[in-house]
Amino acid sequence: MYLEDPMKKLPNAFAITLLSCCMTGWSQPAREGLQTRIIINADQGQETISRHIYGHFSEHLGHCIYGGYWVGTDSEIPNTNGIRNDVVEALRGIHIPNLRWPGGCFADEYHWMDGIGPASARPKMVNTHWGGVTEDNSFGTHEFMDLCEQLGTEPVICGNVGSGSVQEMSQWVEYLNFEGISPMADLRRVNGREDPWGVKFWGVGNENWGCGGNMTAEFYADQYRRYATFCRNYGGNRLYKIAGGANSEDYNWTETLMKNIPHRMMDGLSLHYYTTNWGNKGSATQFGEEQYFEVLRRCLRIREALDRHIAIMERYDPDNNVDLVFDEWGTWYDVEPGTNPGFLFQQNSMRDALVAALTLNYLNDRCERIKMANIAQTINVLQALIFTEGEKMVLTPTYHVYDLYKVHHDATMLPLSLDSPDYTFSGRTLPAVSASASRDEHGVIHVSLVNIDPGKPISVSLDIRGADEKTVKGKILESSEMNSHNSFENPTEVVPVDFRDVKVGKGIVEVNLPARSVVVLEIS
Ligand code: AHR
Repeated sequence: MYLEDPMKKLPNAFAITLLSCCMTGWSQPAREGLQTRIIINADQGQETISRHIYGHFSEHLGHCIYGGYWVGTDSEIPNTNGIRNDVVEALRGIHIPNLRWPGGCFADEYHWMDGIGPASARPKMVNTHWGGVTEDNSFGTHEFMDLCEQLGTEPVICGNVGSGSVQEMSQWVEYLNFEGISPMADLRRVNGREDPWGVKFWGVGNENWGCGGNMTAEFYADQYRRYATFCRNYGGNRLYKIAGGANSEDYNWTETLMKNIPHRMMDGLSLHYYTTNWGNKGSATQFGEEQYFEVLRRCLRIREALDRHIAIMERYDPDNNVDLVFDEWGTWYDVEPGTNPGFLFQQNSMRDALVAALTLNYLNDRCERIKMANIAQTINVLQALIFTEGEKMVLTPTYHVYDLYKVHHDATMLPLSLDSPDYTFSGRTLPAVSASASRDEHGVIHVSLVNIDPGKPISVSLDIRGADEKTVKGKILESSEMNSHNSFENPTEVVPVDFRDVKVGKGIVEVNLPARSVVVLEIS
């Protein structure tokens, strides 16, 4: 939460003196005439930034699962039980906290029993939402749980409300979580898994206002109550149930669910909001400053929507018992020319990295209510972190933001105040600078800074109050062009490097943020 006027709340005695900088090794007074001042209240942190805000989403869509994670055990691409080793290593590198699966729209036409047992005997289906391709169900429940174990991540399973049944979802929970003797636990054992996995996070349907059944909010709220009732807690595992939430700015959906679903039955309420212009999505890489500005404007607008959904939740749930779960977000452009329109494959540029960094800064700021978020989607789909092609793999600028920002996982959010200069284009303005700060379990402060202005560097002075840290180091992600991106031919066009344009003196950290850059500082 931002403090309105922290100067009034904090006496000068709280101001710290930062003595030296480990990178430059000098100390000097703050420069005059700085454009932007950020006051970080290092002694005011109360809320934890759940690591689950840094979650991911992978659907049976295009080449996210097939070719992205799953190559099969017979593949020459290095794999463990059919799952690509390079992808697992890359995702372990960013400490992926959770993975939402199997959809998305696919979830509400997926019948989980088709994806268990011997692969050769599994029935095939048509993936009607995504390209009309045949889904052979070779990647099912056991493969997904193996993937999560290899990644060291928590599964988030989205059940089928749209075309499934209460019994089907109830049995899926039993199959995954029941330890004793029961039809589903016995079936799991027949399929080679003795112990239950103990899956905690369950989505009860997806976009049930649209692809998940075109329901009214009232009808879905009633359905949720039925489905959630029969998703049982087994053993010590208490389920965390997520109600399928609103589309973008549909506040009536949020209000109706908060009103009609008893809060003891709902741990989280979701929201989906993509950064896109549905009527004219545009290219992921072929754009000028007008489209650059427009995408960032739309991204920043999501903040207002999050705040309005949160305000409704506060009204019905002032004690904060129901979390906001922002389980689909990210950029959505036209597919790359020549690719299957149903596969949603788009490139990923520095512009996407800025969208990710801006969004994550805001989710950190609202961590009191927002406890989980999932960018869409991890591999080869929409705002992907990873591209694969045959045996090749490349990491996108968005991946590198997640790598830089992993320092915020489960850290204490430090309130800050920021008066940003404007980024102006064609007479319209956006705040150019965004920031977020946290303190980790070792007492180290991290500050993530974003400058979206594509033409101007911005000097920032950080006034860190209530701490006595002495050294600063940092990393930066920047690019030569607005649309710079990584490709299989040039995988390191946009990668983080050490950041040296930082000076420390008299309680102030001074940073020169280059145009269109993301900087993460470590202050210890
Ligand atoms: O992420 C792609 C799709 O976007 C998901 O399947 C759906 O939930 C949303 O509309």
